[in-house]
Amino acid sequence: MVQIRFLILIATLIHATVGFAAGDPEAGKAQSIVCAACHGQDGASGIDPSYPNLAGQNERYLFRQLQMIQSNQRAILLMTGQLIGKSDQDLQDLAAYYASLPGKIGQAEGDNRSIATSESIYRSGILRKGVAACTSCHSPTGGGNSLAGFPSLSGQSSRYTAAQLTAYREGVRATDEVYGGMMRDVAEGLTDTEILALADYLQGLH
Ligand code: HEC
Ligand code: HEC
Repeated sequence: MVQIRFLILIATLIHATVGFAAGDPEAGKAQSIVCAACHGQDGASGIDPSYPNLAGQNERYLFRQLQMIQSNQRAILLMTGQLIGKSDQDLQDLAAYYASLPGKIGQAEGDNRSIATSESIYRSGILRKGVAACTSCHSPTGGGNSLAGFPSLSGQSSRYTAAQLTAYREGVRATDEVYGGMMRDVAEGLTDTEILALADYLQGLH
């Protein structure tokens, strides 16, 4: 089962790599003024702590999300109307712009025990619950995998991360369909407490 998953994943990635054209950060910057109202001038200091940092996120991941937000496959009420009329090239340029900005470095606020639990899940997963180790896809430093389009989690707002893990677990976020539902699989085994601890840990991981 796991092997079949991996073969599908590799086939998907090779398919996705073909025809990936890089965007133009300068053209993206010109479009980003409206985004700054919520995501911050530097893409990393949103006006609400539950809004995601975009700075330093990889271009492939950002482009895919923007396409899904535009088509409402990923429904974000606050972003309604923001992407209307934009071409794929516009979305690619926005993705390139945010990918070119320096990522935020944050800090974990939890106690040692919570950090130790999260670190163990991040590095080794939870075998008895079938939770896969995060590090294999999101890298040991949380930087993700830009070639594969696996997102960086490093320094991300903990409230945002917790909300996403919960949304995957409840099946509300299904943007991982192209990856065989891998994040829904991972999140299925996580309790609320584990999600909060992981989200806090990731805010400080770099
Ligand atoms: C009115 C506020 C608002 C504006 C304006 C806005 N966003 Fe967002 N954006 C959000 C919120 C809130 C989320 C997270 C929603 C959630 O919890 O899933 C989000 C999520 C995103 C994500 C997904 C991040 C990830 O890690 O998956 C991207 C990419 C994004 N926004 C890009 C943009 C761009 C580009 C613009 C400008 C064209 C923009 N946003 C304008 C509020 C806004
Ligand atoms: C097999 C690979 C894989 C593993 C293992 C994995 N992830 Fe992911 N993760 C992904 C992919 C691919 C995405 C993007 C999916 C999408 O487009 O929704 C993602 C997305 C995410 C997001 C959303 C990021 C954002 O900006 O919205 C979070 C948070 C996350 N993963 C946390 C974790 C945590 C915590 C673990 C370990 C408990 C983990 N992941 C394990 C591949 C993986």
